[in-house]
Amino acid sequence: MKILLATQKPFAAKAVEGITDILAKAGHQVVKLENYASQEGLVAAVADADALIVRSDKVTEEVMAAAPKLKIVVRAGAGFDNVDLAAATARGIVVMNTPGQNSNAVAELALGMMIFMARTHFTPATGSELCGKRLGVQAYGNVGRLVGQKAKALGMSVCALDPFLTDEQIIAGGAEPVHSVEELYAASDFLSVHIPALPATIKSIGYDLIMRMPKGATLVNTARKEVIDEDGLMKALEEREDLKYVTDVMPDNYDKLTKKFGYRVFATPKKMGAQTKEANVNAGLAAARQIVDFFATGNRKFQVNK
Ligand code: 3PG
Repeated sequence: MKILLATQKPFAAKAVEGITDILAKAGHQVVKLENYASQEGLVAAVADADALIVRSDKVTEEVMAAAPKLKIVVRAGAGFDNVDLAAATARGIVVMNTPGQNSNAVAELALGMMIFMARTHFTPATGSELCGKRLGVQAYGNVGRLVGQKAKALGMSVCALDPFLTDEQIIAGGAEPVHSVEELYAASDFLSVHIPALPATIKSIGYDLIMRMPKGATLVNTARKEVIDEDGLMKALEEREDLKYVTDVMPDNYDKLTKKFGYRVFATPKKMGAQTKEANVNAGLAAARQIVDFFATGNRKFQVNK
């Protein structure tokens, strides 16, 4: 089978070697498309692919229509909002993710961003400490749980909201359960967002919620930019000079935000939460193994478009 590894943001060389090795040993041929400049590049490259491995690359209806042999798409990572699931299902294409494989990298970045903001962008200005502060985690899944556990090691107290978990599961994961998003925001000196971008979550974090945060609070978003209502965020930052926003997913109006709020807002230039050698190897090799298994045995364990 021909497997296309299409990564606009390439994996570390070690991950690419590992992916190629696993697939080649199983008799598959690997073709790489890295750093491509436009969607047309992906559309052209996918023409004779049987399987596709991507990161946040956009696997649209147009891409799938250009790939008549395509049987499986594996998103090497957690969020699969970049894949048109309905279009895949309509064409009988299996879509999988590799849950948990890059979580540690994202969790470490979330904590790093909290320290960066608390220490005023690593300038000599007097900062504050994380120890003794309250962290709220919105969605206590693979990433959220790791953020909570690492925060506790720094001396933070941790509460979490997750409608898919019982109180017992949240407690077992090391956090105190809270039962509404309003309660979570009101309790959190630092609020770490880990919800996926879904119709129900898009723009769900706005003025009303952000305004509930305690004095001096920081909102940390390593999830998706779409979950933030940027107008509401802007209004809250205007009215509350004590609030801060840090994100690994560049807001649409970042220039406006930084011009207005200076060091109180920071975004990484390119999403880098999962960009470590370890996360690349974990997610990339898992994707390759899932493809080998799918073609060999039909295993669909991580299918997300069931
Ligand atoms: C994910 O959903 O796994 C993360 O957002 C990482 O995305 P990336 O592979 O594009 O860095």
